[in-house]
Amino acid sequence: MCGIVAYIGHKPAKELLIEGLKRLEYRGYDSAGLALMNGDLQIVKAVGRVANLEAKVAKTKNLHAHMGMAHTRWATHGGVTEPNAHPHTDDKRKICLVHNGIIENYATLKKVLSERGRTFHTETDTEVLATLIGELYEGDIEQAVQAALREVTGAYAIVVWCSDEPETFIAARKGGPLMVGIGNGEYIVASDPSAIVAHTTQAFALEDYNVVKITRDGFRTSTIDNKSVSPKVMQLEMDLEETELGAFEHYMRKEIFEQPNALRTTFRGRIDLNEGRIVLGGVAKFAKELVKARRFTLTAQGTALHAAMIGEYLLEDLAKVPAECEYASEFRYRNPIIEENAVVVAVSQSGETADTLAALQEAKDRGALALGVVNVVGSTIARETDAGVYLRVGPEIGVASTKAFTGQVAVLTMLALYMARRKFMSPYESAQLMRELEKVPDHIERALQADSHIKSVVEKHCAKENWLFLGRGYNYPVALEGALKLKEISYIHAEGMPAAEMKHGPIALINDGMPCVFIANKGRQYDKVMNNIEEVRSRGGHIIAIATEGDDAIRDLANDVIFVPDVPEPLSPMVTVIPLQLMAYHAAVIRGHDVDKPRNLAKSVTVE
Ligand code: M6R
Repeated sequence: MCGIVAYIGHKPAKELLIEGLKRLEYRGYDSAGLALMNGDLQIVKAVGRVANLEAKVAKTKNLHAHMGMAHTRWATHGGVTEPNAHPHTDDKRKICLVHNGIIENYATLKKVLSERGRTFHTETDTEVLATLIGELYEGDIEQAVQAALREVTGAYAIVVWCSDEPETFIAARKGGPLMVGIGNGEYIVASDPSAIVAHTTQAFALEDYNVVKITRDGFRTSTIDNKSVSPKVMQLEMDLEETELGAFEHYMRKEIFEQPNALRTTFRGRIDLNEGRIVLGGVAKFAKELVKARRFTLTAQGTALHAAMIGEYLLEDLAKVPAECEYASEFRYRNPIIEENAVVVAVSQSGETADTLAALQEAKDRGALALGVVNVVGSTIARETDAGVYLRVGPEIGVASTKAFTGQVAVLTMLALYMARRKFMSPYESAQLMRELEKVPDHIERALQADSHIKSVVEKHCAKENWLFLGRGYNYPVALEGALKLKEISYIHAEGMPAAEMKHGPIALINDGMPCVFIANKGRQYDKVMNNIEEVRSRGGHIIAIATEGDDAIRDLANDVIFVPDVPEPLSPMVTVIPLQLMAYHAAVIRGHDVDKPRNLAKSVTVE
C-alpha cells in the first residue's frame, strides 16, 4: 500500500528519497510526491509511477536539501490526483506531513476544524490530520502531534515537519508499519526496511501509539501520552541483491522459478531424519502447550488464507488435531469463542496485513496462544505473536504471491508433522514423510519444466473471460489459489470451488469452450474428480487437467493435460500450484498487463 521514506542527515535528500520510493514501488501505489526542507518548503507531486515524479523533480530548479520526506499513495479518500497525493500541508503551510493508513473520524474532525475557520484543498483524510496538528500547535511540534493523535481514530504511520522547527521530524505509528534507520549522523524513516538497508542496517520499529522526535543529533521516543519509551534497536538482515530482477523479465516469474531453492532454505536444519522429527526452534518453548492444544484456528487473507486452508487439512489429516481456517477480516468481528488450550496461527507473507494482525490480537486477548507463520523478519505480526516459524523464502516483490504460498504450505506441513510426531507418530512413519518432503523442491523443479507447454495451453484460451478452477480435498484450496492468481494479474474472471459444489449451481455457467481447470492428480478422491470432469465435459466445458505423470487415462477425458510429478497427497499442493502460477503469469503477459503491479492492488494491505 502507501509507502513512506523520510531523511535527515548530510546526504543530498532528493536522490535518496527517489531511490527509496523506487524500492517501495512493489507495494502498489497510484501517485507519488516529495517535500524538501532547506529553510523553505518545496513540494513536488505526480500522478502515476515514481518515474513521473523523478522526471518532474529533474525539471524543478533549486531542489537542494539534506532533509525531506516522500510518499507513494494508494488512493483511499479522494481520487488519484496531484492535489490528493502526499505530502500534505495545513492551510498555513506550517505543517507538512506524509501518512499511511486511514483516519476514520476525519469527517467529524474536518467539520470542527472548518467551523474554526480552517480551510481544505483536497479530499483526503491526511490533510485533515495535518490541519489538526496545525490547530493544536502551541510552539512544540512533538506535543502537537501527540495531542492530535489522541484525537484520531483509525490507523496511521506518519512523518511530520513544522516550519517553526525546521531541523526536526516527528514520526508516529498505530497500525501501519514504520521503522527508523540509524546511520552515522543521519536517520531514515521508512515504512519498509528495503528503503533503509542501502544506508544502514541499524534500525528500530515503532510500536503502536509511539512517537519519535528526530534531529540530526539524536532521537527521543515516547507514547502519545508523552511517556518515555526505549525502542529495541535491531540489525536488519536483507540482501539488496535479492530484491533485484537479474535476468528475469518480471519479479513474479523470478519468484516462481526461485521456489525450489526457496523451499530448500525453508527446510534447512528443520528436518532431522535420524530422529524422525521436525525441529522448529521458533516454537520449541511452547512444545507442551502445542501438544495439549484442543483446537487450532488459522487466520489470514488472500493467498495466505489459501495456504492456511491447506494447513487446516494438514493438521487434521496428519496431526489429528481439530483445526479451522477463517478469513481474518471475519474472525476479528464475529465475537469468536476461544476455548481453553486454543492456538491461533496467523499466516502472512508481509506480517503487516491489518486484518490478520487484528484477528491475532483478538484471539490473544481471548486467551489463545498466538503463533505466526510469517516471511518478513521483525514484522508486526512476527513481533506480536508468542512464537512462530519464519518462511525464509527471501523478499517477495511481485504483488501476486507465489513463493510465499509454497513457503507457507511448507511451514504448515512441518508444523503438522511436528505435532504428529510429538503426539503419536512413530519416528519411522514420520521419517518416511519427511524424506518425501525433502524431495518437494526437486519435484517443483520438474513441474517448472512444463513452462512452455503451459504457455501454449494458455495462448489458446486467454481471450476467454470466465474460467473455473475445481478440486477436492487438498486441491480445493489449490483451486481457489489458481483462480485468485489468474484474476489478480490477468483480470480474467475466475472462480475456484470444490469440484462437488459445481452441481449445486455453478454448472449452469458451463458453456461451449469455457476453460475449466481441474486439479486432478492422484489421491483419495481421484475417481470422484474424474466423474466431475465427465459432467463438465458433457456440457461443452474445455477441460484443462493438472494430472500425475503416468496417468494416461486422463488424456481421454481432458482437452489439455499438464503433468506434475507424483507426490504424496498431503505434500502435493506445493507442486500442483506451480502450473497454476505459470498459467496466470502467461495469461497476464499475453494480455499485456503489468504483471508485477496489477491495477488497484497493493503488496501488503495495511488498512482494513
Ligand atoms: O502479506 P500477507 O500474506 O498477509 O498478504 C495477504 C494477501 O493480501 C495477499 O496474499 C494477496 O492476496 C496477494 N495479492 C495474493 O497474490
